[in-house]
Amino acid sequence: MEHMTIREAATEDIESIARIYNHYVLHGTATFDTEPKSIEDRVVWLDSHGPRHPVLVALVDGEVVGWGSLSPWHPRPAYNDSVEVSTYIDPEHLGKGIGSQLMAALIARASDIGHHAVISQIVAGNEASLALGERFGFREVGRLPEVGRKFGTLLDVVLMIRLI
Ligand SMILES: CC(C)(COP(=O)(O)OP(=O)(O)OC[C@H]1O[C@@H](n2cnc3c(N)ncnc32)[C@H](O)[C@@H]1OP(=O)(O)O)[C@@H](O)C(=O)NCCC(=O)NCCS
Repeated sequence: MEHMTIREAATEDIESIARIYNHYVLHGTATFDTEPKSIEDRVVWLDSHGPRHPVLVALVDGEVVGWGSLSPWHPRPAYNDSVEVSTYIDPEHLGKGIGSQLMAALIARASDIGHHAVISQIVAGNEASLALGERFGFREVGRLPEVGRKFGTLLDVVLMIRLI
């Protein structure tokens, strides 16, 4: 495992966050976004994540190699203690434990903040993400068939949840 640190994301990280995310927007099905996000869009996105919804970055040798976030699951207030977790690792740094360390940090933050349910929506076939969820005690609670279409292919979404 490379030497890595994790900290709160800041404005200076936005370019790296966008670069990593846009790679998967353009080349993968992990996200159902289909158009790259602009820097301006990511500034708004980061600002909209207040103290109850942290965005974390992982750094190796001072370079951002991954990010993860806890986002509101649903705007209606009875859902306030439920969050959706996301993690995206630079394609040059996959499979080195960075996603696991980010997930551990995000679950710890969710617990500290007082969230109760951490939800992950994973496109069927995303074996790395499913393995990451299983490693951290997420269980599959549902599967939405053919709710996405990307690169001309219909995609299922697996819903996983971890209660704290
Ligand atoms: C999913 C993702 C965040 C995992 O991060 P990572 O740093 O590559 O994963 P880690 O090295 O920490 O490994 C986590 C687990 O996934 C497994 N894994 C990693 N890559 C894998 C692959 N390609 N296929 C199957 N399992 C894989 C590891 O073996 C490990 O499981 P284990 O603890 O049971 O051994 C990363 O692959 C990624 O960014 N993927 C693209 C974006 C994405 O899918 N994000 C999630 C959206 S829901």
